[in-house]
Amino acid sequence: MKYIGKAMSRVDGVAKVTGKAKYASEFDVKNVAYGYVAQSRIAKGRIKSIDVSEAERQSGVVKVFTHLNAPKTKSSDDDFFALQSDKIVFSDQPIAFVVAESLEQARFAARLVKAEYEEEKPTSDPRSAPTVDSRSPKMRGDAPAALAASPVKFEAEYTIPIEHHNPMEPHAGIAFWEGEKLTIFIKSQGVQAFQGHLAKCFDIKPENVRVVSPFVGGAFGAALNPHYITFLTASIAREIKRPLKFNYTRRQMFTGHGYRPYTWQKVSIGAEKDGKLRSVIHEAVGNTSTIENFTESPNGFGRTLYECPNYHTPYKIAKTDLPTPTWMRAPGAVTGAFALESAIDEVAYQLKIDPVEFRLINYSEKDPETGRPFSSKALREAFKQGAAKFGWEKRKLEPRSMRDGNWLVGWGVAVGTWGAGQAPATVRIALSADGNARVGSATADIGPGTYTVITIIAAEFLGVDPAKVKFELGDSDLPNAPMQGGSITTASVGTAAQGAAMAIKTKLVGLAQKDANSPLAGASVDDVEMADGTLSLKSNAAKKVAVADVMKANGMTEIVETFTSTPNAERRNYRTQAHGAQFVEVKVDEDLGIIKVTRVVEATACGRIINPKASHSQEMGGVVWGIGMALQEETAVDHRYGRMMTTNFATYHIPVNADVQSVETAFVDEEDKIVNPLGIKGMGELCLVGIPAAIANAVFHATGKRVRDLPITLDKLI
Ligand code: MOS
Repeated sequence: MKYIGKAMSRVDGVAKVTGKAKYASEFDVKNVAYGYVAQSRIAKGRIKSIDVSEAERQSGVVKVFTHLNAPKTKSSDDDFFALQSDKIVFSDQPIAFVVAESLEQARFAARLVKAEYEEEKPTSDPRSAPTVDSRSPKMRGDAPAALAASPVKFEAEYTIPIEHHNPMEPHAGIAFWEGEKLTIFIKSQGVQAFQGHLAKCFDIKPENVRVVSPFVGGAFGAALNPHYITFLTASIAREIKRPLKFNYTRRQMFTGHGYRPYTWQKVSIGAEKDGKLRSVIHEAVGNTSTIENFTESPNGFGRTLYECPNYHTPYKIAKTDLPTPTWMRAPGAVTGAFALESAIDEVAYQLKIDPVEFRLINYSEKDPETGRPFSSKALREAFKQGAAKFGWEKRKLEPRSMRDGNWLVGWGVAVGTWGAGQAPATVRIALSADGNARVGSATADIGPGTYTVITIIAAEFLGVDPAKVKFELGDSDLPNAPMQGGSITTASVGTAAQGAAMAIKTKLVGLAQKDANSPLAGASVDDVEMADGTLSLKSNAAKKVAVADVMKANGMTEIVETFTSTPNAERRNYRTQAHGAQFVEVKVDEDLGIIKVTRVVEATACGRIINPKASHSQEMGGVVWGIGMALQEETAVDHRYGRMMTTNFATYHIPVNADVQSVETAFVDEEDKIVNPLGIKGMGELCLVGIPAAIANAVFHATGKRVRDLPITLDKLI
């Protein structure tokens, strides 16, 4: 391969650092008005009366909307929409929307909106909220009986607080109408999903809605759902008959657009004395809102990971008076991994077995759920490479047995896994006679480097320099693509890009062979190499024809092909998962309990790596995120008021450069012909999954103290 697998800098890097890349709120739209929300003081009840007269009198104010005069959605989806009724279902819910000539005027006037409420006592604490059963897969074997009969037993509870994604770019949108046609620039992980959402909300045809989102300043799941910003911005723009811009403030990023739910988990493990797992019961309760049932799969995480004949994963959701959670990087999996991979570590200590060894004893060679083989699973090799790189063999088994002066040193390990998914996707390529290629698909690039990897794949199979490829995304007018979520983008859109390039090659070979004297006469497409503007025989490179000449002979200036890829049917006979082994060193100040993550090695088996540079960055991002989740991140809720309290970066902590030290990555070769022709599995979430557990395990190894309640802050250690 000429370009695939070679490190390449981002094709959009220069545009991003020079400000040429336009984010949602940066599009220049004439005569734009600005919106700002006033938010509810109470978490539950109803608005008795609302007085907007003072707000409306302020200079620059165009109009103030409340539930009394705001447009209503025609969608019957149970998403939260703002200003639909007098009912208050969470604290900081929008109660009014002020439109003004400037952002400052709108913001000032929003403070003058006065509401009176009929207040009810909210239940925001998931521990006391009513629960409903959610999807739980069928129990494998008889887990309770097997647990009772096991010679080694273990049980512990783990909790994870609410956490908020904090992409650098807050949610933002600009909407305008031209007759019946809506255009909206909005931060989005899936322009066509947003298009469908808006079409439903207005009960109009999707072709009358254009959603544009070419650059996204991070999202991590926060922009999978349209949230209330999308319909609110679009519908108020229609009311005021002029373009409207609405940006969330940083504080508003914490107050109603979704978050990782609070999760309580209990893991019960039964094992033999030799370490063989007999039974796992992994229970989970996550919070949701009263208006929507948000579910993920926190406890499904381990079901394919370990060979264990009895496995049970009951899952419930607790209905709280809070906004609805949403997906947040590695949703469910990182949550479940924290509990299960901590518990596995605890059992390993109980049995005095090295935690890597313990995992290898229980290694699943095939999917324990279905008995099907894995399409590929190089986790054993990942353990081997990761352990070697980390120097794991020098580890002493006993906690508190390693130190560096006043710092207790701990080494921990955990496993990550994530489904190697793929969804139908379409890519269109226009290759012109001069060798330039325009490639398009309505996917997103929320930061992982999709612009670059699709450019690489198209360049590879068109046989052109990547500099001659221009890939466009983030516009609902482009060919269909799934949302950028679930780590499926490269597998989905990349496969379609390969297909479209191959279709162009097939077309060109056919056109060339219309000439009876063609040097390619009689050759199959596979016999032909397309590179650097030339079609040549693989067996005899001297037999060749220029692509430009083929086009010219056929009166063409470009060839356009559109290709839709769908997941391979053969996938169904296999389990398709990516895996990673994640090794962490922490140092803990013996007196003060300060924790530093000094070294991380991520060994990852996730199929083919298209761009090693971007993949390394992804892994770094996963580690940084894992440090935040393990040691810092927590959205505090004041349950007296049902209100999110830590709504800024002064009180909601995330890692800074000083918190991140050595991060090394290793990609273990996996050739997987089942997942898709290129063998792409995805990695953007996988790289986070095991990290919080590995850190918690390292902290235990350093200190002998097991913290099962994230984040692990120093007060929990001393
Ligand atoms: Mo991700 S939480 O699938 O954007």
